[in-house]
Amino acid sequence: MFGTCTILLLFFLIDTISTAAVTTFPRATGNVTYTNARVLAQNEIFDGAMRRFDRGRGACKQQVEGGKADAVFILENGATLRNVIIGPDQAEGVHCQGSCNIINVWWEDVCEDALTIRQISGTTRITGGGAKGAQDKVIQHNGGGTIIVTDFYVQDFGKLWRSCGNCGTQYPRHLQLNGVIAKNGKVLAGGNGNYNVDNQSKAIQLTGVASMLLGNQSSS
Ligand SMILES: *[C@@H]1O[C@H](CO)[C@@H](O)[C@H](O)[C@H]1NC(C)=O
Ligand SMILES: *[C@@H]1O[C@H](CO)[C@@H](O)[C@H](O)[C@H]1NC(C)=O
Ligand SMILES: *[C@@H]1O[C@H](CO)[C@@H](O)[C@H](O)[C@H]1NC(C)=O
Repeated sequence: MFGTCTILLLFFLIDTISTAAVTTFPRATGNVTYTNARVLAQNEIFDGAMRRFDRGRGACKQQVEGGKADAVFILENGATLRNVIIGPDQAEGVHCQGSCNIINVWWEDVCEDALTIRQISGTTRITGGGAKGAQDKVIQHNGGGTIIVTDFYVQDFGKLWRSCGNCGTQYPRHLQLNGVIAKNGKVLAGGNGNYNVDNQSKAIQLTGVASMLLGNQSSS
């Protein structure tokens, strides 16, 4: 009896202290400029120690569509990027070639987009961190599978998540948002129903989110 109570209490405490998105951008501990995108090998874990990473002055050409060579980091399948600040002087942020883990990564001024995901299936987790200043997209979901965004902060943005409307190959895509705080944006999540992008099996959860709902746009 007593044991059961203790366990219930523990669950309650864990639930109460579960973190929410942090809304203050961290202070960088230093700057690192890469000449070429830094590639993280399959399953590699890279800890940036809260340094700011970029590609040098003039690297951001606003909404000119770049490629993965314009990224700051390219993550191969299973790689983890953590404790990183992506500075304003870059174009394509982070590219995941497969499923990846993005932990406590902050985009100070999103250029073309912040994070591009190409996994065909599987799950990519974005936990903690935040992004601001995205004229258009923050997370560009080009592949398939599931993206789980937890305790993420997004400010001054076009779309937090966009399912690729014009990718040559289309996949079912699932998005789950937990504890996301979104401020001053257009569309929280933009799907495209005509490409079998779905919101099935309650894969999408809007928790602690301002007021923007899943969109259903057919292009871009
Ligand atoms: C580090 O990068 C930031 C953002 O681009 C810049 O404002 C700052 O001047 C840089 N610091 C140094 C020491 O280069
Ligand atoms: C999204 O649009 C498609 C057609 O493009 C339509 O079939 C579907 O019902 C729409 N879904 C929602 C949730 O509005
Ligand atoms: C998507 O799923 C969520 C959670 O089940 C629900 O609140 C929301 O209304 C759904 N949106 C659409 C467009 O179906």
